[in-house]
Amino acid sequence: MISGQTLQTLSSILGPEHLLTRQEDLIPFGTDATKLRFMPEAVAFPGTPEEISRILQLANQELFPVIPRGAGSGKSGGALPVEGGLVLAMDRFNRILEIDRRNLVARVECGVITARFQEAVEKVDLFYPPDPASIHISTLGGNVAECAGGLRAVKYGVTRDYVLGLTAVLPTGEIIKTGVETAKGVVGYDLTRLLIGSEGTLAVVTEMVLRLIPKPASRRTMMAFFDSASATVETVSEIIRSKIVPTALEFLDRTCIGCVKEDMGLAVPEGSGALLLIEVDGDEGLARKEAKRVKDICTRRGALEFRSASRLRDSERLWEARRNVSQSVYKLRPDKISEDIVVPRSRMAEFIGFLEELASRCDLPMAAYGHAGDGNIHVNILFDEKIPGQMETARAAVKELFAKVIALRGTLSGEHGVGITKAPFIEMELSRPVLELMGRLKKAFDPRGILNPGKIFPYKI
Ligand code: MLT
Ligand code: ZN
Repeated sequence: MISGQTLQTLSSILGPEHLLTRQEDLIPFGTDATKLRFMPEAVAFPGTPEEISRILQLANQELFPVIPRGAGSGKSGGALPVEGGLVLAMDRFNRILEIDRRNLVARVECGVITARFQEAVEKVDLFYPPDPASIHISTLGGNVAECAGGLRAVKYGVTRDYVLGLTAVLPTGEIIKTGVETAKGVVGYDLTRLLIGSEGTLAVVTEMVLRLIPKPASRRTMMAFFDSASATVETVSEIIRSKIVPTALEFLDRTCIGCVKEDMGLAVPEGSGALLLIEVDGDEGLARKEAKRVKDICTRRGALEFRSASRLRDSERLWEARRNVSQSVYKLRPDKISEDIVVPRSRMAEFIGFLEELASRCDLPMAAYGHAGDGNIHVNILFDEKIPGQMETARAAVKELFAKVIALRGTLSGEHGVGITKAPFIEMELSRPVLELMGRLKKAFDPRGILNPGKIFPYKI
């Protein structure tokens, strides 16, 4: 519980206009893209690392939870105040501090919206590839906390591949800098990488140094329809085997196509079981050559139809619709569990076969889509909470799904993190000594357990 006295101290640290305490103002800060709900006791909008430091020191004295929050677009509940406490909304850290064109690095604050940053670097012909489907709302700080991936990860990697250094506030109040501002550096342990993907449990990141690359000169978007989901993912495996590295290689099953075909402006060929959305980029000659090779493979593997987006506007529409799949599937049922598994790319067809069998056995729609080029398939299990038994069936299906993924030597999450939704399953993937070591790390950073408690670990740390 945060006492009245502590709220007064918080107000004097932040200025009263940067502290919310009225119930109705707190509600939006208790939820995220999971649609789960918890109530914080207050919301702070700090403006400097020093203010965060003072807040965390106070939390250590008074023992209340502090939960860092970006845009609240997380898919695993990482920013939810599950034990109440103070939400630390990072909205005021919204400046792009520097885009250094000579050194191909940028310095940014954590609250900058990902798409805004991408537009700013592209204006000067540079490129920041990580593009989670939530780019128009998610923040770079949230992307760092979850190590967000996105559509272009198959060629360009994920957030951690672009972070050179961080400024962060430790739960005990020290303000630290990790990593470097140079193109490389190996001095000491790699704390930068430890903080990336730590889901706001080890430190509050306020600023980052990001690596940029030259903007590719051209790109081409293509689409191929297949009669079945397994034929589609087998084509993905062949594209990967052929050493073509597309920028994006996205998969949508029949269920997803049904939900987004109007947004995409698509005439769907008769008998389509799934589609691939493919992009290649690079200089004009390379993009043309790779596009041709992709087309040849799709045709050889029996694509029902292959299309190239001839205009940029058409391709943007396709990608926007792809980013909206997650929302569009709510057309089918009011509730869902969203998973984010990854399997080795050579085993996707086996996984898809399993999923189809699971969906028919559970008699629930299971939409599968996502980053097939990475073996990262988002499985959305749809149900209606009001129909007795459906939620329980969906939950039991998740457990079976995870067991299969582990048996295929995959992982439970490619980019959404563990948060609270996957914490009960983490022991299916991580051994006891590994989890205990992680627990000791958490304790070393946060001895009193005030920073984002109740996340990642299936038990109290
Ligand atoms: C996506 O790729 O669309 C997201 O990561 C998945 C989601 O929002 O469910
Ligand atoms: Zn995704």
